[in-house]
Amino acid sequence: MSKIRQVSGDERLHTAFTLYPYAFDATPSATAADELRGVLPYHEDNHTLIVEEDGRTLATVGAIPMRQNLRGRAMGMAALAWLATRPGARRQGHGRQLMQQMHRDMLDKGNLLAVLYPFHPAYYSRFGYIGLPLNRTASFTPQGLAPLLDVTLPGEVSWQSIREGFDTWRAFQRQLLEHRHGYMFTPDFRAARASNADDRWLACATVDGEVVGLVTYRVDGYGGTLHADELLYTSPIGRALLLQFLAQHAYQVSRIVITVAPDEFPETWVTGLEVLTSAEATFPASPPMMGRLLSMDALRGLRCAAARVEVDVVDDDLLAGRYLLDGTDGTITVTATDATGPTPRATLTAAGLSGLAYGVLDPLDLVARGLGEVDAEAAVQLRTLLPRCTPHAFGKG
Ligand SMILES: CC(C)(COP(=O)(O)OP(=O)(O)OC[C@H]1O[C@@H](n2cnc3c(N)ncnc32)[C@H](O)[C@@H]1OP(=O)(O)O)[C@@H](O)C(=O)NCCC(=O)NCCS
Repeated sequence: MSKIRQVSGDERLHTAFTLYPYAFDATPSATAADELRGVLPYHEDNHTLIVEEDGRTLATVGAIPMRQNLRGRAMGMAALAWLATRPGARRQGHGRQLMQQMHRDMLDKGNLLAVLYPFHPAYYSRFGYIGLPLNRTASFTPQGLAPLLDVTLPGEVSWQSIREGFDTWRAFQRQLLEHRHGYMFTPDFRAARASNADDRWLACATVDGEVVGLVTYRVDGYGGTLHADELLYTSPIGRALLLQFLAQHAYQVSRIVITVAPDEFPETWVTGLEVLTSAEATFPASPPMMGRLLSMDALRGLRCAAARVEVDVVDDDLLAGRYLLDGTDGTITVTATDATGPTPRATLTAAGLSGLAYGVLDPLDLVARGLGEVDAEAAVQLRTLLPRCTPHAFGKG
């Protein structure tokens, strides 16, 4: 008889971690055991569950306790990962039971949202997840940014190793978490990986001593490529300062490749920039993130324009029920209700509601994708409460 239990500390090594090399690594992985012991500290406060039978681990899933900004409000978010079932035990429901248990556990710990990278989205759609937009990669030559070198900007850029700049980097991430829709903040025990690896530079743009932009990057060789991670900034001046800094690498590197948000338009950074901006979704190698609400409380207190709608959330253990979403005072209140009054009403799946909350779907997209039944008046109300807005799912630690 199998049972689910939580494991922690070193116990992960001979339980959950026994499934990781087979499920996620290349063959052979003779050094897997050493590598896994090395990453153990970065799992310290993760929530790790296993399915066990006769002392053998059949399946596992983990969750990183993170925070995420949803429409201006930072809240607890669980980043689910490492779902794996031993081949002989697949298609017996272990994965599903682990997902359901993990959702309950993470909700009990106060997390209102959950995200994951799917091996295939169809599997997670049935657990209420909806796809979020992929970040883009922009690729261009540093010479393309040369016009920026003639501009005098009110600020400066300094660079240092990520280890030296770690505290600055974390403080800026904390700031973005409070302000940027979709932004994710990793816990300290996991973010320490970046500092310990010390394999990145950190460029930091400041105006009057205040940080207005940051980017981590590495150079793969003289005449090679400068690989920049997420372009983070709080103002266009911050972005321009960082781009000016990148322009200074002309004829040191031949190309710059940088990760940008889905609603960033690199072709507008300077006149005449030749740039390839791309995002390729493939499964399981390059999947767009998926996300869901774990609780209706995620919507409470979000700023909105005046509107009011009743929603029936269906087919979901955590969210199912009828609710009045009322934004007539400028923030959303959520009240469980039995009413069938004159208020417009919509029927939504958890994935549909999550798509509205994350700002990636219009109410009529829900109809088009079979994620809900929304008539014209309910669509107007839902669109007013939860208008489209692109989540910047940045903040990998
Ligand atoms: C993905 C994985 C964890 C699924 O585990 P599992 O224990 O077999 O999952 P379940 O038995 O709970 O499956 C639940 C449902 O999903 C379906 N399903 C399972 N694996 C699937 C797959 N690879 N593709 C499509 N559907 C799948 C099953 O048919 C089942 O539906 P059903 O009960 O209606 O038949 C397992 O195949 C695995 O370890 N894969 C390799 C590692 C991996 O990709 N992990 C996911 C990381 S995001």
